[in-house]
Amino acid sequence: MFRLRPESGVATIAVKVEGRVVHVPAGASAAAAMLAAGFRSIRETPLTGAARGPYCMMGVCYECLAEIDGAPNRQSCMIEVRPGMQIRRQIRAPRIDPTRQSS
Ligand code: FES
Repeated sequence: MFRLRPESGVATIAVKVEGRVVHVPAGASAAAAMLAAGFRSIRETPLTGAARGPYCMMGVCYECLAEIDGAPNRQSCMIEVRPGMQIRRQIRAPRIDPTRQSS
């Protein structure tokens, strides 16, 4: 469903989605990287475990919460990918490390 246009000529960078290397255009969001990796569900709700995926792609719906570089609850549609970024799905309630500061 989501594919890069081969004629775009945009430089790509490598990120890891669920441990798998994915090449995405520079400037893409982490949510776009997950979609490009084939994930339609990015998170599961804390109470019921219902699958959720990015909906608005502009920071409104919060359906794209993911773990990025070890930090949970990040709005992946609002975070630009950078080389080596580690993106993981957020399953149910995230583990919170009180000693870690978000960036
Ligand atoms: S997809 Fe709606 S806030 Fe990210």
